[in-house]
Amino acid sequence: MSVADLIEGKSVVVCAGAGGVGKTTSSASIALGMAERGLKAAVLTIDPAKRLANSLGLEELDNEPRRVELDADGELWAMMLDAKSTFDGVVDRYATTPESRDRILENRIYKQLSNAVAGSQEYMAMEKLYELHESGDWDVLVLDTPPTRNALDFLDAPERLHRFIDSRSLSFFMAPSRTGLKIFSRGTGLLFSALKRVTGVDLLQDLSEFFNLFAEISDGFRERSKAVTQLLENPGTTFLLVTSPQRDAIDEVIYFRRSLRERRMPFGGAIVNRVHQEVSVEAEGEDVVEELADLLEAKLARKAARNFDDYRALSMQDRLNMERLVDELGSRDPLVLVPYFDEDVHDVGGLERMNTHLFAPGAAQTTA
Ligand SMILES: Nc1ncnc2c1ncn2[C@@H]1O[C@H](COP(=O)(O)OP(=O)(O)O)[C@@H](O)[C@H]1O
Ligand SMILES: [Mg+2]
Repeated sequence: MSVADLIEGKSVVVCAGAGGVGKTTSSASIALGMAERGLKAAVLTIDPAKRLANSLGLEELDNEPRRVELDADGELWAMMLDAKSTFDGVVDRYATTPESRDRILENRIYKQLSNAVAGSQEYMAMEKLYELHESGDWDVLVLDTPPTRNALDFLDAPERLHRFIDSRSLSFFMAPSRTGLKIFSRGTGLLFSALKRVTGVDLLQDLSEFFNLFAEISDGFRERSKAVTQLLENPGTTFLLVTSPQRDAIDEVIYFRRSLRERRMPFGGAIVNRVHQEVSVEAEGEDVVEELADLLEAKLARKAARNFDDYRALSMQDRLNMERLVDELGSRDPLVLVPYFDEDVHDVGGLERMNTHLFAPGAAQTTA
């Protein structure tokens, strides 16, 4: 099937998957494809390769979508997500006074938060998605997801971040006036005061202030993260799982597919990217080595023949791995295959090349 069929009528498309499989490239390609189909589409990318970013006009992080110049019926917008600014926006929304907002924003622990706490980058991507969706300005938003170690980190992010920020239990230990701190005071107290002496930084003060201030925005944050999660579960949203045809990546997609089902989150299909194309010739390297030798030097001919055999083996392996995915999905329909190109996808031309596969009618049939 074509990606256009898999995402038809959806206003939010989330491209998820393991690191390095082609999420960013696929997200940008899909948004471009939808713009070419007359929609106003935006891609929220996380970590575009520099050349791709440049070609989309994303030289700087400004955390707002910018229109990409394009000769198309629809519009393509692109933005590079800045997790920190998005987080600042959340603080700004829920702080009760401008003073406490400023104190949070200037807090040393807070400044490190968006880098230090697992899940905050993922969560902020969803947060931004929610914000743009609420604006109602786009027909379709395509969300690229951060390069997580495990694709599931993305789905668990709201919960994890929320648990961290929901500081009531922690502040119990942090607030110096409460009895709780005494439990820890010997060891940690010494550590903190040693740190303070050496670095001049009163971490204990910062920590305690941080958790106390965050208690204030915690309720608002909880409500918001519920709304964000609901957007992901909404039938107007769909997840496309991006993967390579390698066995471990396929395993991860199968696992992710099951997790989506458990969470009742909508699954649209899987993009298998960088597939070694099927070798349709029957011949083996050995059969052609003599013919090749007429054209090439003998040593090179042997090399080329071996290379041909290797490629066929890779292609067969890809097909076997993909069969496992087809078994899991119960059908070939939700699969879209993109071949391994001989060069990177780094500009609009490359994205268009990708789209000849993503948006090809009956795309998965190439494996059949
Ligand atoms: N089908 C493909 N053939 C060749 N190179 C590709 C293909 N798809 C993606 N790439 C390249 O692979 C690299 C990683 O892709 P990217 O989309 O950034 O992955 P991710 O976002 O999942 O980490 C990029 O340099 C990209 O240009
Ligand atoms: Mg990426």
